[in-house]
Order: sequence, then structure tokens, then C-alpha cells
Amino acid sequence: KNLDLHIYDTIDSTNLKARQLAMDGAPHGTVVLAKQQTSGRGRLGRSFFSPREGIYLSIVIKPDFDVSKSVLVTSAAAVAVANAIEKVCGLESKIKWVNDVYIDGKKVCGILTEGISDFETGQIEHLILGIGINTTVKDFPAELLATAGAAEGTYSKSALAAETITQALGYIEDLDSASFLPAYKEKSLVIGKTVTVYQGRYKVNPEDEITGVPARVLDIADDGGLIVLYADGHQEKLVSGEISIRI
Ligand code: BTN
Repeated sequence: KNLDLHIYDTIDSTNLKARQLAMDGAPHGTVVLAKQQTSGRGRLGRSFFSPREGIYLSIVIKPDFDVSKSVLVTSAAAVAVANAIEKVCGLESKIKWVNDVYIDGKKVCGILTEGISDFETGQIEHLILGIGINTTVKDFPAELLATAGAAEGTYSKSALAAETITQALGYIEDLDSASFLPAYKEKSLVIGKTVTVYQGRYKVNPEDEITGVPARVLDIADDGGLIVLYADGHQEKLVSGEISIRI
């Protein structure tokens, strides 16, 4: 199948470019790929450090599923990246709910899914699935090295990008059957662990003091929610976007 592929050396953000292309009528499966981003976007308004040698890509998705399932796109993409890293790099990776891919306890990939709504109706018409994979940490500042890692090795970066795109589009075309969910659970870094739950408040700067609540992760629900058990015996399903956790 032919891919509508837009490749850049340096760009502000592949998500922004993909958004522009989608608004100009680009079809489902259009991909924007860059070697470097000057203003990579992260979740919760954060930035995503995007030096040369990483893999930065965005895919235009025209949902054929109910947009309430959009959160599953992010989970599916996390499995796609983990599978691709295993196949192309020969490295084992894990997924931290909801969308971070980890190798040896360090985050190597971030995923940001953004909706584009129709101006008149307010309905979500497109999703932009953005994926950033670190392939080396050599240019990373010290403060990021505490948490950031990379899929290091002598593999082909184009092969890793291509495998990630193929896997992600495959899972998304089959989103209603949630075929990625067994692999998502198997690769989960949090099931069975005690985590700290931060409800509605996020740590934006490392020095921010916020308090969370400890909870044990029991499972991941079919809608991608995290099922946790608190010390007082009460159980809750956490929905991504409203809650963050720390292992
Ligand atoms: C996060 O971990 O907060 C999500 C980071 C998402 C980064 C990717 S890199 C490609 C795409 N373009 C962006 O500007 N952001 C996403």
C-alpha cells in the first residue's frame, strides 16, 4: 500500500504539520516524518525535546470508530512502538500507562494524540497521532537523563519508523476489536504494582510539589482505563487525561 509520506529534515512539530495537512484534506494514513523538531509538543502543554537523530512522526487518522475511543489510539500506538522496537532493534520494552514506552526503566518514546474538530459542528473529524522515539541520549541535558532513555543500537531508523507506522495503522484499522489489548497488558509496567495517583493536578516542573495517593493497579479495562485499588479497599477506574501516575 502506498503511503502519503512527507519527510522533513527540521520542522517545528510534525503534529502541527499533520494538522495543517489534515485541514487541507490530506487522507487517512498521511504521515509526516522529521529528523529534528524545534518545538516538539508533549502532553499537558509540555514540550518534547526533539534533537537530531530521534524519530519524530505524525499520522493523520480519519476515525471510522466512535471518537470516544480515541484514547485507545494512543494505547494501540504504544503497543505498535513496543513491537517495532522489539522487531527492528531486538530490544525489550514496556508500556507505562497510558502511553509511554520504557526500556530499562527509562522513557524512550512519547505519544501525543490530538483531535481536530470541525469549526462549525465541533465534531472531531481527524486525529493526529504523534510519536517521538529517542534513538540516542547523547545530546540530552543532564536533567532529562534521570528519566529519559533511548532505543540504542545499530539498526535502521527508517525500518523502525516504517514498522511503527505499519503496526499502528494496522491496530487502528481494527480498533473496535481492540486486538492490541492483550499485548498492551502483557507489556504493562504497572499491572500488579503500587503507583501514586495524581488526580487533576500535574507536575509541570520538577520542583513542583504535588501530593498523590498510593494505589495498587489491578488491571487495564477494555476502554483503556486503569483499574486501581486504594488502601481503604475502594476500587476505581482511572481515565487518562484526568489522572497521572508515578511508579
Ligand atoms: C509526551 O510524552 O508528552 C508526548 C510526546 C509526543 C512527541 C511526539 S514527537 C512527534 C509528534 N510531534 C510533536 O510535536 N509531538 C509528537
